[in-house]
Amino acid sequence: MARVGMPRKFVFVCINERPEEHPRPSCIRRGSDSVFEALREETGQQGLVDVKVIASGCLEPCMVGPSIYVAPDDVWYGGVTVEDVPQLVEQHLANDEPVEFLRIGRPEFELSPLQGRSDLPPGEIPPV
Ligand code: FES
Repeated sequence: MARVGMPRKFVFVCINERPEEHPRPSCIRRGSDSVFEALREETGQQGLVDVKVIASGCLEPCMVGPSIYVAPDDVWYGGVTVEDVPQLVEQHLANDEPVEFLRIGRPEFELSPLQGRSDLPPGEIPPV
């Protein structure tokens, strides 16, 4: 197989897992492993040999996972499902047009599992 050189895009898919009882959700419990596999399959089927799909640890916007980061485009996605993958690959990874309805930004990073919880003593912050 011929080498393709430096990838045109890198797609980081969070597959981080936390215990069920952890206050922060984790992407793998929301199906990110299936999203990761679907992205690899779809990019392969579409012949995108210059797109590298990478399994990643926590990317931080855990409250809206599964989370994905596309570089060098600097585009963040949240709540991605297997059903979204064909559109994401065709529209963004192949044709450079981000999928707007899946995009997230700074506000999603600032969501906290502590919001709405009154059972934690003041100053008691669960581990990330
Ligand atoms: S666990 Fe996936 S972004 Fe944090």
